[in-house]
Amino acid sequence: MSNYHIKHLEEYFQVYRKSVRDPENFWEEVAEEHFVWRKKWDKVLEWDFSKPEIKWFQGAQLNITENCIDRHLRIRGEKTAILFEPNDPNEEAENITYKDLHGRVCRMANVLSEKGIKKGDRVVIYLPMIPELAVSVLACARIGAIHSVVFAGFSSTALSTRINDCGAKMVITSDGSYRGKKTIDLKGIVDEALNDCPDVETVLVAKRIDSKIDMKAGRDEWLAPLLEGAYGDFPPEVMDAEDPLFILYTSGSTGKPKGMLHTTGGYMIYTAYTFKNVFQYRENDIYWCTADIGWITGHSYIIYGPLANGATTVMFEGVPSYPDFGRFWEIVQKHKITQFYTAPTAIRALAKENLDFIKKYDLSSLKVLGTVGEPINEEAWHWYNDHVGEKQCPIVDTWWQTETGGILISPVPFSTPTKPTYATLPLPGVQPALMDEKGAEIKGNPADGRLCIKYPWPSMARSIWGNHQRYKDTYFSAFENKYFTGDGALRDEVGYYRITGRVDDVIIVSGHNLGTAPIEDAINEHPAVAESAIVGFPHDIKGNALYGYVTLKETGESRDRDNLRKEINQVITEHIGPIAKLDKIQFTSGLPKTRSGKIMRRILRKIASKDTGNLGDTSTLLNPEVVEEIMEEAL
Ligand code: WTA
Repeated sequence: MSNYHIKHLEEYFQVYRKSVRDPENFWEEVAEEHFVWRKKWDKVLEWDFSKPEIKWFQGAQLNITENCIDRHLRIRGEKTAILFEPNDPNEEAENITYKDLHGRVCRMANVLSEKGIKKGDRVVIYLPMIPELAVSVLACARIGAIHSVVFAGFSSTALSTRINDCGAKMVITSDGSYRGKKTIDLKGIVDEALNDCPDVETVLVAKRIDSKIDMKAGRDEWLAPLLEGAYGDFPPEVMDAEDPLFILYTSGSTGKPKGMLHTTGGYMIYTAYTFKNVFQYRENDIYWCTADIGWITGHSYIIYGPLANGATTVMFEGVPSYPDFGRFWEIVQKHKITQFYTAPTAIRALAKENLDFIKKYDLSSLKVLGTVGEPINEEAWHWYNDHVGEKQCPIVDTWWQTETGGILISPVPFSTPTKPTYATLPLPGVQPALMDEKGAEIKGNPADGRLCIKYPWPSMARSIWGNHQRYKDTYFSAFENKYFTGDGALRDEVGYYRITGRVDDVIIVSGHNLGTAPIEDAINEHPAVAESAIVGFPHDIKGNALYGYVTLKETGESRDRDNLRKEINQVITEHIGPIAKLDKIQFTSGLPKTRSGKIMRRILRKIASKDTGNLGDTSTLLNPEVVEEIMEEAL
């Protein structure tokens, strides 16, 4: 029996039991069977969650691009690796074969290397969803440089914070980007960011929108001429299995963003294995994940997982609403997509539109549908199932995180019976636990608790870049000897998991994780603001939206409230990006605080959600009267 492709429920249970009985042997078999190693490992796993230290396949050597590209050349050289679908439907799609990809990645690797980038150096990539993005990521991996992709919707401040945190010497960007009808001046944002980044020596600029931009002499260079002159082969750098592959920033509930550090060998086998099983990928399928490569979903399930399987992976530059709300379905029909993976927020937005947008297209090529990023509500699940899958396609509700590197809980389609709003069962090798408030594991079903993982899996993040202590404090301190996810979950009678949402101060808005503290810090920069508190409240498309309670300094009291609201959102856009803008801003004379000075967010959350029937005990507050005022004036 091959461990690699699960085909029915009984097999899932067999494989799962085996994976838990002897995880090392299980993952060793996967690693043996399917990948190219320059040298095999001395030891499969060494771990200690108290430090925390996790090492998979120590002693092994490999290059992930050799596995994602080179080894396919002989049998799949002419097969499309990346299918690029541009923003404008009238612009032709581009089929990048494995052979083309090899050439493009090697040329880019030569350019990076000529610019002095070596193994271990950090390269920040700030690009729209164009082929250069995937090529840059893979070129870094080819030469052993650590890529850190920053989502191209982030502001210049967010970008400079990340560049400085990881100490990048190089930034790869483009003159601009298309987003539906709009163009965005990416290079301008980079220029502004770099005013605060003295260590960046080189900026490579891809041409996309052909706009006029400033090129700083000695620092900025157009990519195209460099690539043209570059040699089309580059020997892959031999990496240790535990050498860093990338850093990807994610929001924490406090402080600056966390640079999650992922390493090479374990990440490769886990993303490859889960891609194949969760999407039941077969040769000649055309797989499309609508995420941006700026997020972990794009790293693991647009680039590495699919390419490690020799798949055809679609990269879409545009948005679901351009030129109209039928765009996704037009693309499904045009490219005969077999697996379609998107976010609940996109499904909810599309479900609001006329069904004609979907009925116009032939979606019969679809076999498996996926969702990720936040809990999917029942209504959206059924709409997806009825109208996109036409009740023929299992929906994989995949739960995972930037930190986990790959999908941990998900149905295996055609094996695991699905259940709306349930991510269902752990994938092989994944050992979840629900914990009660006292820190004990809840055994038996049903159960409701905080979701932890008890045993390492190969693609877990190994650290936070430059701050291992924070890694330990955030993930390994809440519950002894367990990885704490920050999520709450239910487990039903048969053991299916349903993720209920964050239990910390991270709010997921349209699938993007936003920490409350960084937004509050941004708002507090406004000269009229004394203090602020952000909470989430339910929103029918975004899942959650942001509600800000703001107290003003005396100087701000006389100001026009609507102008202030605009200015506050402007400050947030500058510091973080438009995704963190507040939907509602309520000005108040104070914030409810405990005697130790902590803001009682629980109360603010209830008021924002219009759930004021039972606010709980407010008598311990320092200023209970302020709660009355806030309730009366709530928006
Ligand atoms: C949430 C995205 C419910 C969860 C891959 C997690 C989900 C956070 C699901 C990580 C799901 C992700 N059901 N909630 N299927 N998938 N989440 O780091 O709260 O962007 O902790 O990784 O998204 O978001 P991140």
